[in-house]
Amino acid sequence: MSIQTVPTTPFAGQRPGTSGLRKKVTEFQQPGYLENFVEAIFLTLGEGRGRTLVVGGDGRFFNREAIQTILRMAAAHGVARCLVGRGGILSTPAVSCVIRKHGAFGGIVLSASHNPGGPEGDFGIKYNIENGGPAPEKITEAMFANTQALVSYHISDAGPVDLDQLGTTRIEDMVVEIIDPVADYAELMARLFDFNAIRTLFAGGFRMRFDAMHAVSGPYAKAIIEGMLGAPAGTVVNCEPLEDFGGGHPDPNPVNAADLIAHMNGPDAPDFGAASDGDGDRNMIVGRGLAVTPSDSLAIIAANATVAPGYAGGITGIARSMPTSQAADRVAESLGITCFETPTGWKYFGNLMDANLATLCGEESYGTGSHHIREKDGLWAVLFWLNLLAARGKSVNEIVREHWARFGRNYYSRHDYEAVDASAADGMMAALRARLPALAGQPLGSFRVSLADDFVYTDPVDGSVATRQGIRIIMADGSRIVFRLSGTGTEGATIRLYLERYEADPAHHELDTQQALSELIAIADSVAELRQRTGRESPTVIT
Ligand code: G1P
Ligand code: ZN
Repeated sequence: MSIQTVPTTPFAGQRPGTSGLRKKVTEFQQPGYLENFVEAIFLTLGEGRGRTLVVGGDGRFFNREAIQTILRMAAAHGVARCLVGRGGILSTPAVSCVIRKHGAFGGIVLSASHNPGGPEGDFGIKYNIENGGPAPEKITEAMFANTQALVSYHISDAGPVDLDQLGTTRIEDMVVEIIDPVADYAELMARLFDFNAIRTLFAGGFRMRFDAMHAVSGPYAKAIIEGMLGAPAGTVVNCEPLEDFGGGHPDPNPVNAADLIAHMNGPDAPDFGAASDGDGDRNMIVGRGLAVTPSDSLAIIAANATVAPGYAGGITGIARSMPTSQAADRVAESLGITCFETPTGWKYFGNLMDANLATLCGEESYGTGSHHIREKDGLWAVLFWLNLLAARGKSVNEIVREHWARFGRNYYSRHDYEAVDASAADGMMAALRARLPALAGQPLGSFRVSLADDFVYTDPVDGSVATRQGIRIIMADGSRIVFRLSGTGTEGATIRLYLERYEADPAHHELDTQQALSELIAIADSVAELRQRTGRESPTVIT
């Protein structure tokens, strides 16, 4: 075994987006592409001697090869110990949990989250820091700068490590420890939630369907929901992580988890449905005939936080991404705590949680979590709901409708226009930005604009400023239209249009969501010249 210095030249476009570097598998397979990015990670982190690093991924195609490369490069950069999930598997929340529990210096997560997998699909790599959360922008920008100046990378020429056997091996001076991917995470969940109450619920005949979408949450859900909580075998479906996620799109929303929705709408629907995404950090909560919007789920969890033993002492604050509905703000107000509004992406929540300013965090994109780790956590949200259902003895439907009756309903929807011509999308955003100063105070349909801006966030902890985080048109009654470009897509541009309207009166809480938002949808189209500029008649996906 020896450490090699391999000459290389920079690749364009290795700038991490909302959640790490995501590209087509074929791009990652180019010789030196992964190596260059990993070299840039190590250059940014500085000398690695004595450090522990966590490595794992969602099991998608190229996961194992990437891990072997990363291990050989970690050894070349003097990392002392690498903790790797068996089979190369670690969900994103499990990486965060393992980093924190074992006092690791950081972790490398191999995932493109909910993006499709397989040889034609997407791959991704993300660095998480010591607190278990995604690296903040100043670190990812430094990584990008390093990718642009590389002349060589360093790698051991050791042979491959057996990723499937628990135990310890070495590459150069580095110890590689293959760990059970589920154990640490399961132990943490058992401390946060009332497992006895949930066991009693299942023992009483409560029925659930958890759809792991052939992705990484399968082994976790099976071990915890069926193994520890006693749900009948078969409660967790599609639980084998597959390299191509069975050809599906592992994104837990009503469109991509249509099979779960069909079960929950069927005549023999179980009491509770849930799904998680490729890397296990997203969740969808479903009752009989009702998919709970993620924004409502966050608000409901916040309003009921104290039912779970881990949150019995109450919550210090809530944080939501700017496009997420304002349902949680109303709960925060009633609890007398702050609801922080951050840019899109989990990395902005880390400082708030580290400073104990926020206990619960959420995004409209099916992401919910708490300060137990520094990533969003799909199974955590599902276990929270199970704890809530067990504690209250009510159905999902009853809980949601009672919440609306108490706080009002925030009708909410996101319209995605995927793989749009990038210059058309940029042009639309630029034109919209130029119109913003003239919009404030103007009537738009039956609404009046009270604020129109491009969201700027100043981190209350470290004072860092993030600009251009989404165009907001806020109406006098609190209704909102938000436009932003996705930072996770791999093809052209994806325009996200977020729509929200508040309805206090319970007599109007049973409208169809798109119907309830129809005027805002029409306004958004005309203000942004959306159809005209993109040439699209309708969104690719509506959630
Ligand atoms: C999307 C979601 C965002 C989430 C991210 C990673 O990012 O909108 O909320 O944090 O995936 O899961 P986007 O593609 O919008 O940049
Ligand atoms: Zn994910």
